[in-house]
Formats: sequence, C-alpha cells, structure tokens
Amino acid sequence: MTAHQTILILDFGSQFTQLIARRIREHAVYCEIHPYTLANEPGFAAIRAMKPAGIVLSGGPSSVYEEGAPSIHAGLFDLGIPILGICYGAQLVARLLGGDVRPAERREYGRASVRVKVQDGVFRTVAPGEELTVWASHGDHVDGLPPGFVHTAESDNCRFSGFANAERRIHGVQFHPEVVHTPRGAELLGNWLFGVVGARGDWSMASFVDEAVARIRAQVGDDGRIICGLSGGVDSSVAAALIHRAIGDRLTCIFVDNGLLRRGERDYVASIFRDHFAVDLRVVDGEQRFLEKLADVTDPEKKRKVIGYEFIAVFEEEAHTIANARFLAQGTLYPDVIESVSFKGPSAVIKSHHNVGGLPERMKLALVEPLRELFKDEVRQLGLELGLPRHMVWRQPFPGPGLAVRCLGALTKPRLDVLRAADAIIEEEIRAAGLYESIWQSFGVLLPVRSVGVMGDARTYEETLALRAVHSRDGMTADWVPLPYDLLGRISSRVINEVRGINRVVYDITSKPPGTIEWE
Ligand code: XMP
Repeated sequence: MTAHQTILILDFGSQFTQLIARRIREHAVYCEIHPYTLANEPGFAAIRAMKPAGIVLSGGPSSVYEEGAPSIHAGLFDLGIPILGICYGAQLVARLLGGDVRPAERREYGRASVRVKVQDGVFRTVAPGEELTVWASHGDHVDGLPPGFVHTAESDNCRFSGFANAERRIHGVQFHPEVVHTPRGAELLGNWLFGVVGARGDWSMASFVDEAVARIRAQVGDDGRIICGLSGGVDSSVAAALIHRAIGDRLTCIFVDNGLLRRGERDYVASIFRDHFAVDLRVVDGEQRFLEKLADVTDPEKKRKVIGYEFIAVFEEEAHTIANARFLAQGTLYPDVIESVSFKGPSAVIKSHHNVGGLPERMKLALVEPLRELFKDEVRQLGLELGLPRHMVWRQPFPGPGLAVRCLGALTKPRLDVLRAADAIIEEEIRAAGLYESIWQSFGVLLPVRSVGVMGDARTYEETLALRAVHSRDGMTADWVPLPYDLLGRISSRVINEVRGINRVVYDITSKPPGTIEWE
C-alpha cells in the first residue's frame, strides 16, 4: 500500500526537526519523524521494516561528548542507507565514525557564510569557491574528520561546515538547511534527496488520497460504520470528506450546535456536507441545553469544562442512535503525533482544550485518524483535492468552546448574538481587504465593560468590543497584526453603527507570550 519512498528523520530534540520534514515534503518526498531511540533497537528492526530511502539525523541541544548524550548504534552507518547529519546529527556522524568533536573557540549563532569546496552531494549545484548564506546555531564543532571523509565546505568560524563520504553516501552539514534563513537550504536538501538518495518525488496529494482510502477501507472492513464529529473547522471537514470518499454512506457526521457558533455556521456546514457531498449528517440542536448549563458560569476554565463535558454527553447520546458505529474519526494532525511520541515530553497545559478525549474508550470506539501523517498546509491541499471549497479549506482556526471564550462574563443569548453580529462584520471586512488567509486569526471579543457614548443626540451606555488579529505559525506563539488604520476604522464604525449593544471598539496589541490568542 505504501508505494511511495520514505525518508526517516531521527530526532535529537532540535526545535527545527519539524521544519526538516516540511522541507523534504515540499520536494514531494514523504518523510516521518521518529525519536533517535529507534536507532538503538537490536537489529534496527523497526527501521528495516520501514525501508527508508534515506535517513536524516536532526540537530539537538546536547553535546555529543557529554555523558548520556543522545546517541545511536553506529551499525546504522553500515545499513547502506544514505545518511545526512544536520548540526548535532553531523557531529554525531563525526564522533561515531572516528572523527573529533569539541567545544568551539568561536561559536556560531545566526547568519554565517559558507564557502563550498567540493561541488558534490549536498552541494552539487554550488560551484567551488561560491559563498552560501546559511543559518547556524552551535557551540561545538567538528575538529577532525573521520577516516574516508572529504571536507566539502567551510566558514570563517567553522572549519568543517560540510563533509562527506560519497562512497558510503554519508553527509554532514554543520548549519541548518531547513530554516528559511538559509536561503538556498531547500535546494541543498533537494540535492541530497535527488542526487544522493535517488528520491523519485513520488509523494503527492492525489497518491495520498488513494493510499488513505485503501487504508480506511482496510481498517473498517465491509460493514463498519464511522462517526465523525464535524466542527466546521478545516481538520474535521477534510477528515470527513476523505472518509466519505472511502466508505460513502457508511460515514455519519454529527454536528452539534452548542449555541456558541459563528453566524450562519450551522447552515454553512449543512450546505457543504449534506447538499454538496450528500453525507449522512445529523445536526443536533443543543443551544438551549448548553446555555442552561452555562447560565451562571463566568470563570474561563469552568466554562471550558462545562462545554467539554456537555459536548461529550450530547455526542454520545446521538452516537448511540447510530447502528453498528464502531469507529470514531478524529482530525489529528502530524504535529500532535510528533508531540505525543516526542522524548521531550508534553508541553505544559495553559488552558484545558476542548476535544472528544475520553469518548473512544467510554464508547468502545476504535479511532480512525486519516490525517495523522499530514501537516496543516497539506491538509488544506488535500481538502481542495477532495473538492472542498477554498473558503472552507482556508478558514482560520476557531476554538472548540467557540464564542464562549470570546464572550467574557455571562453567556446569554442576547450577548452571544451581539458578538456574532460583530464577528461577522470583522470577517467580512478582513476578507474584503484581502487579508483573511494571511492572518492566523482575526476576531472580536465582547467585554462586560460598559462605557458612555453618544449616538445621534442620545447618550449610550453599552459594552466594548476588543478586536484581535494575530500572525502565528502554529498557535504556540503569536504577534499582533499591524492592521491598516483605514481597515481598523471601517471595522470600528461598522460595528458601532450596525450592532446594537456595542458603542466602543478597542484593538488588542498583545503578543503571545505573554498574552494568549483567545482571551479566556
Ligand atoms: P491560546 O488562546 O491558548 O490558543 O493562545 C492557541 C490556539 O488554540 C486555539 N484554541 C482551541 N482550539 N479547542 C481548540 O480546538 C480549544 O479548546 C481551544 N482553545 C484555544 C486558539 O483559537 C488558538 O488558535
């Protein structure tokens, strides 16, 4: 079933490991990240089973000569598989094969200029003597090459910036080709993939669809039924479209209207999945139920808990009415998978996230996670490939607890309606300005803060809307967006004129950290 080639990336804890994977996939070559410990198994059983076309050893924060530093069994170099060591990975190559690694006298952090000495391997498109701008980050350096290795590149601060044993197809670079600050980094990785590994570039979304469809069918058998919770977000929508392609009407989607959704959300989802894809879609009207449970709740964590609990209850009730449902679909993405297998351990929880955790065990459902190998941008490509509209595939992230975490204070229907109206204006204006897809998230937050205003000749005393727009790559860190003043002005005047209940608009200029993206 896995017709495509695979590159194995062994992770030594670098913050850039995911970037290596993305750059490789951008060359239409499939790759997977695994902890370096995979290369310490007796006989390399898992690695042999994976049959990687090439192996990348990532960077990492340790020093290879330190006691207990992450390392691998040197037999890996005898498997005949091409290996590329990056930064720490390159130092490991040197040390394990008989070279020398030491603390550098002059450390190299940030931009550096590398002179290529040998036009081969990673540098096969670079003329000897040519200078490459690269990004480096290391305090140790290789001080002596292992026997049989050739010196391929150098910089002022680092003698062995590149080295290789062409015959054994083992290459090392001390800098980071995977980061954008190495302008020709993608080209260098391509050189390795296509020139050294012999990659075919056989990973495409069309081939992914075929493989994923076959895998889903094999997992659920001839009569299994999958249920899928649709949220209106990109991940669950693409997962549903893919599963529908695989098993058609044996997929049932459940959409819970919790009364905390954006304007028109319910009809939007129904129009795409019921009308366009003809999916068996159950829409549960839970507005009253959720709002009753939330009536006296203003504490942010409590709101999240109540919503998460209620969602599971509603979902479970609905799912029980579906005969032969043995599987639950989840839109898990590759970054979550990497995080969960990482030897670094899970990151600290700042807010309790809303998901269907716990449901599969309780209901004895097996999980179907057809997106678990994909990055977000690949999920978007896949969505388009499956025929989802661009408008849906490029939606900004929306939190599970919905407008509840953007409506500070009491969650009443009138206040939620006010926020919904303002939110619709914000989205409309940001889209009209052509900024929607380049901004990670843009939205309004209704504050229980009243201030005095004047409209016409009348005094007003209404609540405040905080406008928030952030740039981010993954939601972990974020910068506020310097939106054009005329756009800010348009949003402000439209909200105040068109939405009764708001008479003041303010702009949130807090980055994350120290702020979070959502206000609660
Ligand atoms: P914060 O507010 O923690 O949000 O900076 C980071 C990202 O996560 C989204 N978010 C959620 N997504 N369930 C989700 O699926 C949740 O409970 C949840 N809470 C926050 C948030 O919109 C941002 O993209």
